Amino acid sequence: MDGGSAATRLSFLLLAVLLLSYLPIPSSSSRSLATSVRCNPQDYAAMMKIKAAFGNASAMDSWVPNTDCCNWRVVECDPNTNRVTQILLSGHIYGQIPPEIGDLTYIQEIIFILMHLTGTIPSTITKLKYLTVLRLSYNSLSGPVPSFLSQLPLVNQLELSHNKFSGTIPPSLSNLPSVTYLYLDYNNLTGEIPESFGKFKQPGVSLYLSHNQLSGELPKSFGNLDFDTIQVSSNKLHGDASLLFKANGSARILYLSRNKFEFDLSKMKLANTLQYFDISHNKIYGSIPKAITKLNLKELNVSYNSLCGKIPQGGDVQNYDSYSFFHNKCLCGSPLAACK
Ligand SMILES: *[C@@H]1O[C@H](CO)[C@@H](O)[C@H](O)[C@H]1NC(C)=O
Ligand SMILES: *[C@@H]1O[C@H](CO)[C@@H](O)[C@H](O)[C@H]1NC(C)=O
Ligand SMILES: *[C@@H]1O[C@H](CO)[C@@H](O)[C@H](O)[C@H]1NC(C)=O
Ligand SMILES: *[C@@H]1O[C@H](CO)[C@@H](O)[C@H](O)[C@H]1NC(C)=O
Repeated sequence: MDGGSAATRLSFLLLAVLLLSYLPIPSSSSRSLATSVRCNPQDYAAMMKIKAAFGNASAMDSWVPNTDCCNWRVVECDPNTNRVTQILLSGHIYGQIPPEIGDLTYIQEIIFILMHLTGTIPSTITKLKYLTVLRLSYNSLSGPVPSFLSQLPLVNQLELSHNKFSGTIPPSLSNLPSVTYLYLDYNNLTGEIPESFGKFKQPGVSLYLSHNQLSGELPKSFGNLDFDTIQVSSNKLHGDASLLFKANGSARILYLSRNKFEFDLSKMKLANTLQYFDISHNKIYGSIPKAITKLNLKELNVSYNSLCGKIPQGGDVQNYDSYSFFHNKCLCGSPLAACK
């Protein structure tokens, strides 16, 4: 609570005391609850539906009927409008997301993580035009990733990781006007990464697609994508991933491990922004480019490929032990054995 609203409350209290000293004290039954309740009735009704749909779990014990929802735990209201802007739930909560979630008209952040939610995401969620953060990771949500999620104009962070979503990735997700963080990792998604994923509306997107069943080649359009993070580890992708290696752009994290990528690493350009680089467990051949010594690397792993030649010496490269380089065709030099 800020000082301003504390002061407002204090003056309100003083006024109330003043009035009470002049007026006859009303009986408690005639006092209307509504005067002390800031919670909007539409928000209140939706929250009660959510509480019931989530089995009245103890995390919502403070959500007592006929009390002010703006005072409930894990709920935030806008101090000016008293509309619910955030709900954060986590823990031993079972149930399905009820369609009434779409009645929380002014909500900005829905965080339901590490729960046991099942079922699908209700389409009423598209009514939430102020939603910026939707985090539903570590649940058991299933069905396809709904393409209607692309109708959320302000969503910046869409997190659906560690669920049981299946089917293909809806191409329309790249139409999300504000999305920067898209987490679809640790699901059971199949098919190819959509061609449309080379064109997101915001620069510097972070795409987390690892630990799925994605197959095929990377979309050609990735060559034009300005990304911060691309994580596609542990899928069934194959072919040429060299289109992700470019000198320009803002690439910081590139995780390609445990796929079947096959291309020549020798002439790859590496953006000097690159910090986390794991291409292990693929079929990548050629040699490690000298430019790698210019990078400020926090993670490096090229193990289990078909690389050959001398490991470039210098920079951060020798901070990594042999496990970052082992199981290649004929890599040599520190930290592996000297070249013959
Ligand atoms: C939750 O509480 C409501 C209202 O008290 C009750 O009607 C409902 O049966 C409860 N549900 C569960 C699963 O406990
Ligand atoms: C993933 O989907 C495949 C086929 O669609 C199915 O056979 C498999 O059981 C699913 N795996 C999980 C962990 O749900
Ligand atoms: C990087 O360079 C390529 C080819 O020169 C170009 O197509 C792409 O638009 C550039 N990307 C950025 C983010 O500048
Ligand atoms: C690199 O990957 C290999 C194979 O998965 C693993 O054994 C090794 O520990 C990794 N190295 C680092 C530094 O993470």
